[in-house]
Amino acid sequence: MKIWIVHDSHFGNGEKLAKTLGTALKKKREVFIDNIKNVSPEKVVSDSPDAIIIGTAARIFMISSASKKWLRKLKNELKKENKTIKYGATFLTHVLDKKVAKTWGKRFHKKLNGLAITNIYSEWISGQVKDKEGPFIDGEQERFEKIGKDLNDWMK
Ligand SMILES: Cc1cc2nc3c(=O)[nH]c(=O)nc-3n(C[C@H](O)[C@H](O)[C@H](O)COP(=O)(O)O)c2cc1C
Repeated sequence: MKIWIVHDSHFGNGEKLAKTLGTALKKKREVFIDNIKNVSPEKVVSDSPDAIIIGTAARIFMISSASKKWLRKLKNELKKENKTIKYGATFLTHVLDKKVAKTWGKRFHKKLNGLAITNIYSEWISGQVKDKEGPFIDGEQERFEKIGKDLNDWMK
């Protein structure tokens, strides 16, 4: 099984979350991780992954526009190539409380419904940072490891 994890990390926090999930999933699978600046939706689709995890960040009271654009291109590319991805999940890093960030996280996660993705993870994955440059608030790392294990069980 092949998994792509893409993120839009500016200060390294989203990248760290991506790597933690990647480590949990790596045991029986091939995992590729990169910034959306470096990897195109065309490249990801041409790899025919079984799963995709897309990370975004809250910026100026919105979801990062670069990641929304990337997701739109992924949707078009999957359609063009007539391909389906079996599993999809999303995460959002944010500085504001999870209750506030929930609106953005849910909105981004819902976008997966419009893509050729068969199984969508139960909910968006939250990663709260203490300050815009990080680090994550206490306990987040352990929570990411648990989510990684859960994703691992889910992607059978
Ligand atoms: C210009 C700017 C605007 C931001 N606006 C928000 C915001 O509206 N809400 C929020 O929760 N976090 C906001 N943040 C914090 C980012 O979510 C945080 O920097 C990011 O999630 C950290 O992840 P990264 O290290 O992967 O970039 C903002 C950060 C920057 C730089």
